[in-house]
Amino acid sequence: MSAFDDQSPGRCRRGFGSARSRIGVTLSHATAQPGVPASVNAGPAPQSTHTVRVEPAGIDIAVRVSETLFDAAWREGYEWPTICLGQALCTACHVVIRTEDENNVSPIVEPDERSAIRRVSRRLYRGDTTGVRLACQMRVKADIVVEQSRFEGERRADA
Ligand code: FES
Repeated sequence: MSAFDDQSPGRCRRGFGSARSRIGVTLSHATAQPGVPASVNAGPAPQSTHTVRVEPAGIDIAVRVSETLFDAAWREGYEWPTICLGQALCTACHVVIRTEDENNVSPIVEPDERSAIRRVSRRLYRGDTTGVRLACQMRVKADIVVEQSRFEGERRADA
């Protein structure tokens, strides 16, 4: 399977984001047609986003509903901590959610994430998994605040 076999609109488990976003290609199927209003030819409507405030860096990241926090940080050019490149293995990307309502984020569905959260919680939080999530697996449903102690708002060199 090549990176281009990924048919999902979201992330690719083998790397950062979709193959299209990794190579910086924007595809548009909108073709101008005579007599059709320009707004119809403008392409898909912008996706709705939620703001994730990352502390202690004090950075706001706009996360689209179709992407993870990790993918959004990458799209916005940030150097988000990672070793495994978004495959729920390294736990370097993990955050602690500081927002009260747990329904503001996607539920944990992948066994890999559950296992990684247990590992990092044992190592850093005395086994308390409260609010611990992997940024590479988590989608958001509302504006939230998270803590990522290793992220200082650095930009990638290629951004
Ligand atoms: S990037 Fe490695 S676990 Fe999320």
